Amino acid sequence: MKLAILPGDGIGPEIVAQAVKVLNALKLNISMTEAPIGGAGYEAAGDPLPDATLELAKDSDAVLLGAVGDWKYDKLERHLRPERGLLRIRKELNLFANLRPALLYPELANASTLKPEVVSGLDLMIIRELTGDIYFGHPRGISTLGNGEREGINTMRYNESEIRRIGRVAFDIAMKRNKKVCSVDKANVLETTELWRQVMIELSAEYPEVELSHMYVDNAAMQLIRAPKQFDVMVTGNIFGDILSDEASMLTGSIGMLPSASLDANNKGMYEPSHGSAPDIAGKDIANPLATILSVAMMLRHTFNDEVNALSVENAVKTALAQGYRTADIVTDGCKKVGCSAMGDAVVAALN
Ligand code: IPM
Ligand code: MG
Repeated sequence: MKLAILPGDGIGPEIVAQAVKVLNALKLNISMTEAPIGGAGYEAAGDPLPDATLELAKDSDAVLLGAVGDWKYDKLERHLRPERGLLRIRKELNLFANLRPALLYPELANASTLKPEVVSGLDLMIIRELTGDIYFGHPRGISTLGNGEREGINTMRYNESEIRRIGRVAFDIAMKRNKKVCSVDKANVLETTELWRQVMIELSAEYPEVELSHMYVDNAAMQLIRAPKQFDVMVTGNIFGDILSDEASMLTGSIGMLPSASLDANNKGMYEPSHGSAPDIAGKDIANPLATILSVAMMLRHTFNDEVNALSVENAVKTALAQGYRTADIVTDGCKKVGCSAMGDAVVAALN
């Protein structure tokens, strides 16, 4: 099995190093090759997604990514910015299905800003479409009108087949869970999502056992905070999923806990924490590596079909938490506060 390691920027290299530690401890037959992406790609090759990095990713069975972005690149032309490298690799590899589970570990019930009774037992799977929507639609850009005023344009668009294939992922996953899908849209205002809703309803005919519900995105944002346990699988478009998954992450105590998988039609995948590159804390050994380590578990499960090792990694994370180890973002009373690298070591020790 071939794995491409793309640490990226900010805390990316530190958290990825911990995930690699865990992978190495499993002693699997996986060859790993590292390459730059994001700001690191720009520094190395003048491109946030260097050709060699894209080739490596295409040639690998899976990609493990840290995070991209740093304020120091904000002044670059848009096509050279780190985020563009991430969006391009998602598109080039056709990783249309983004799985973002929000699971509350009982040990962290007090780390959430919400009351423990609201979040305890939370197990929600957000499925975000990742290669369409306003992120990729044309026309787009900033232009100057005849009167000299500037105008910005982005285009929200989805075709039927794009909606159907992400819907199918959601229904299939729901069949292995509690058989409930909530499709999130803004069908009262946006035609794109009116079509989204119609296609989800059509598709649901093929899944009689799954209960399909619909929710407007503004209400969904509220319900996630009010009563998050009402959800099992939530499926939504690219931009709504971007926003709602950040919101859902805080239910689990910290965005530093949320892994993600981005899959193509054949379960080739890119695995990355749901959080960003956090340049403000980079290089200080205080970042939380658990989202990246949990992304490795998702990789073992979804791409390598290795449920046994996926569970070992998840259990090792649980053990480290139960032993009281906490990074700065999830500190609770009486815990053992550790840095990024020591948290990686605690997970490895728990594996053994
Ligand atoms: C995410 C991030 C990215 C996105 C950014 C960095 C481009 O926020 O993965 O959620 O918007 O998709
Ligand atoms: Mg985001």
